[in-house]
Amino acid sequence: MIQITVLTLFPEMFVPLQESILKRAQEAGLMEIRLVNFRDYATSKHKNVDDVPYGGGAGMLLKPEPIFAAIRDLPQTNGQRRVILMSPQGRVFHQQKAKQWSVHDELVFICGHYEGFDERIRELADEEASLGDYVLTGGELASMVMIDAVARLIPGVLGEKASSEEDSHSIGLLEYPQYTRPAEFEGQKVPEVLLSGHHAQIKRWRRKESLRRTFLRRPDLITEITFGAEDYPLLEELIFEHEEFASWRGKWQHLCPPPKRQRRSSKKLT
Ligand SMILES: C[S@@+](CC[C@H](N)C(=O)[O-])C[C@H]1O[C@@H](n2cnc3c(N)ncnc32)[C@H](O)[C@@H]1O
Repeated sequence: MIQITVLTLFPEMFVPLQESILKRAQEAGLMEIRLVNFRDYATSKHKNVDDVPYGGGAGMLLKPEPIFAAIRDLPQTNGQRRVILMSPQGRVFHQQKAKQWSVHDELVFICGHYEGFDERIRELADEEASLGDYVLTGGELASMVMIDAVARLIPGVLGEKASSEEDSHSIGLLEYPQYTRPAEFEGQKVPEVLLSGHHAQIKRWRRKESLRRTFLRRPDLITEITFGAEDYPLLEELIFEHEEFASWRGKWQHLCPPPKRQRRSSKKLT
């Protein structure tokens, strides 16, 4: 069971986490989501959580005291807790990060709002994470996206283990094209191999199409891929079909199988 705690001023925004797969995961006891409104920890008469920046400037900053108090009040955990600060200044979130987080016992997301945080709040966090290179009004939407991505990697949350392992980005490649019934729709046929029932050929086709799709759509991911020996013939076929892929050949040339030696005839020459 993974415990997910979100520190936010807007707990009512988290309705989407109570639907569909995440709802079932919580009902099944695979994860628990706790929302903490850190305004409850403000001690001033008007429950202020923000104040003007020292030195002047636009907007209001979240004060340190309520967030520190909320974190210190979290129940002790015997497991591994990871505190994550939502911030456009953090490392951009990606699938590998979701995988790393999914093995923790507890994740704590701190959602900022308004103009930002008092700098001292950063020291509460093990890391800062950004949803992307743009600025949101608050960390709520970003944390929901990250929680969703983590949740589907928790064993048991998705029906089949394979359904998350073959997703785009899980193995550094985009997922291959998928089809369901009917076998022909408005003249467009499902590739023959997928109807063949030949598992090895289907596996080969899928790997090749994953590679093709990644080269065509996300060439920036190619540098991170580790190709295996079984990829060599697929990559060479792809170069034949897309000349432009040849510029990457250096990445897999070392996988080129050595030329087959001619077997020496055992007959002695007389
Ligand atoms: C308006 S933003 C503040 C941005 C801040 N002035 C800056 O430039 O870093 C308010 C809050 O929204 C959240 N936020 C905004 N953009 C985000 C992003 N791309 N990823 C994650 N959280 C974000 C953060 O918690 C941030 O403190």
